Amino acid sequence: MKQKIDPWESFEIKDYDKIMKDFGVEKVDLKRLLKKNIYFTKGLVFGHKDIQKVLEAKKKKKPFAMMTGLMPSGRFHLGHKVIADLMIYFQELGAECYVAVADIESYLTRDISLEEARKVAIEEYLANYVALGLDLKKTKFYFQSSGSKGYMNLSKFVSKKTNFNELKSIYGDLTPEKVTSVFTQVADILHPQLLENGGPKPVVVPVGIDQLSHINLTRDIANRMKEFNFILPSATFIKIIPGLKGGKMSSSNPNSAIFLGDSPKEVERKIKKYAFSGGQATIEEHRKKGGNPDIDVSFQYLKMFFEPDDDKLKQIEEDYKSGKLLTGELKQYLIDKINKFLVAHQKKKEQAKKILNKFIVKD
Ligand code: TRP
Repeated sequence: MKQKIDPWESFEIKDYDKIMKDFGVEKVDLKRLLKKNIYFTKGLVFGHKDIQKVLEAKKKKKPFAMMTGLMPSGRFHLGHKVIADLMIYFQELGAECYVAVADIESYLTRDISLEEARKVAIEEYLANYVALGLDLKKTKFYFQSSGSKGYMNLSKFVSKKTNFNELKSIYGDLTPEKVTSVFTQVADILHPQLLENGGPKPVVVPVGIDQLSHINLTRDIANRMKEFNFILPSATFIKIIPGLKGGKMSSSNPNSAIFLGDSPKEVERKIKKYAFSGGQATIEEHRKKGGNPDIDVSFQYLKMFFEPDDDKLKQIEEDYKSGKLLTGELKQYLIDKINKFLVAHQKKKEQAKKILNKFIVKD
């Protein structure tokens, strides 16, 4: 049985290899990456579609683009940071950058007003993107509710290239709102290839695995829109980011997530209270049997986000396994790392806020 991937519901994935097989997601060939990136090397980006098209374009000095979208709901957490870092990674590789604020989607499927979406997109997302290093001067940041005429028309034309049976087989039960959101997103992904944006070119879409169905549908539709000569868009997929207690990291559950706006105290409280531990119940037992880093969320966060030094990480892993390092000590190490990053980041974010308004395209 194929797992259903519903972009509007949360779900867990036990077996990423099976997802790759079932949905034609390829493994990343690290040797072919043109620039190292820890999300690829550590496996957080677990798969891709057609990324070689983008790498080829880069090698041949041909134009290529990065396109992704954000849902302007809730606060910016570590999962959002991964996507932002990947956007910046592709920007630094030389991609033209297109970023959509999914304000139509958040209005239709989450009842967030366009005004609220605008505020969240600018103050939360855009400010964090800039603080993390996105160059706004080289980014086309737009709202789904106010794209160009070509983009708006495209979002309607795509409906001609699919049908209800196909949509149902991909998404299950659909509402009209979801259908509109899907068509809007297909247009988001394809519009960098419109003539107004320089015509067909390889486009990579960094997204969470929850967006896989949109990518697949977009590729099928692109293939059927012969008159546009679209190149089928590429994508990189990141794993579901584990929440502190396991499950998924989610804005709607503040104790599951580390937000980039969290204060040092909040980080300390959340990690100490909620981060799932792979350690033993008592110190004596832990010293004797050791902990299990594979299920320990603090260790996983260090591995994925906060300890880029492989040798140090290896040492921590061994000490934890042997019982030399206690859960409390591991947590404190993580807390210090996170807070060091956040304090510096929040300063940059304040700076970023000052320059934002200049770059917002007015309707
Ligand atoms: N649906 C995406 C989400 O829920 C947001 C989105 C809109 C998007 N347009 C996009 C993502 C284009 C990637 C590419 O987060």
